[in-house]
Amino acid sequence: MRARTRDRRVYLGSHPLLFALLAATRRRPAVRLGRTLLVHDREAFVAGLTRVPLDRTAPGTTGGAAGRLTGGDLLFDQSGDDHRRTRRDTAEALGAAGVARLRPIWTELLDRRLKPLADGDPVDLVPVAAELAGTTAAALLEADVDGVTLASAAREAAAAAARAHLPGPRRPGTDRTAREATEKLSSLLSPGGGDPAALATMLAVAAVTTTVAAVPRAVAWACDAELWGYAEHPALADELLRVTAPTPLLPRVAAGPGELPVPGGCPVRAGDRMLLVARHALDAHRLDPDPARPMPARIAQLAFGAGAHACPGARLARTQLTDVLRALAPYRPVVVRARVDRRAALPSWRSLVVRPS
Ligand code: HEM
Repeated sequence: MRARTRDRRVYLGSHPLLFALLAATRRRPAVRLGRTLLVHDREAFVAGLTRVPLDRTAPGTTGGAAGRLTGGDLLFDQSGDDHRRTRRDTAEALGAAGVARLRPIWTELLDRRLKPLADGDPVDLVPVAAELAGTTAAALLEADVDGVTLASAAREAAAAAARAHLPGPRRPGTDRTAREATEKLSSLLSPGGGDPAALATMLAVAAVTTTVAAVPRAVAWACDAELWGYAEHPALADELLRVTAPTPLLPRVAAGPGELPVPGGCPVRAGDRMLLVARHALDAHRLDPDPARPMPARIAQLAFGAGAHACPGARLARTQLTDVLRALAPYRPVVVRARVDRRAALPSWRSLVVRPS
């Protein structure tokens, strides 16, 4: 219970109204509010990603944000043959061989950054997760930039883009700040610019924001629920990703008509906005993590989406989290202090300080 109560703070601190609305409507499989559909049911969530034709460039969707961020058509906002081509290259770099090649980079970094725990000293896991994500992304993209610098530029670009996407009145200069943050990130990755820089920018943001959100939240939960005895269990990382649902809400827009498979039916019209609630599709709000009796893989993997656009970084993310949990387990850490990041693009901790128990 303590783990769940603490984790809820990342939502309440950053998106209290949205969280309240989602919680209030979650007993119904899908709820229409004007042109917006809140989709809570698991099968309807999958159908929203795989069976309804999607407008991948609509403003306020992940694809729209990616397109705005990079100024190009890249993965999230691509469809058809173009998507398949970019996707094949990315999937290869992030496949089993690619992950095995990258792994020594983060295991060595974890050895170094977690050393204070061996002396009984505390460690803040947010900067560790950021460095880990940035260093891995730099190696993946073969960019000559240090991991801390890359991670902070990627987080800044994502947070600025998220602010520029919020509905309602904005502070003057929001768009300019977002553009400048993206340009900075892109120039770090490929000083020459162009398409490779745009793809690298998008991948860096996708990898860094999710890892910095996911790893500290999963560790806090493992600390609070005392799950360290399961560190060698293959299902621990999956169960923690399921219950924290690092990308809890996938905003998508229908490009054409469709139907969500809920009792009584739920037609979708072209232009409807669907808020696909991964958190509820994963039963994250109801079922605590249980590595001894994990959710079937086909459900747990919904944390990474579904269908042709499902996350190509899932293997990397799972392996990294498993390695972080294994590296921490011998210290059986406890949380000393946790602060919410109110500006981040995804519900996240700004700092999560742990010490050996
Ligand atoms: C815990 C960590 C992560 C989570 C929870 C996560 C989650 C997701 C989700 C939900 C999607 C959308 C899927 C859909 O529309 O069906 C996605 C897409 C994507 N993710 Fe991840 N992700 C994570 C880590 C990563 C990493 C480490 C990378 C890269 C190294 C990455 C790269 C991407 C890319 C490129 C896409 C777009 C794929 C496409 O549109 O074809 N992600 N991710």
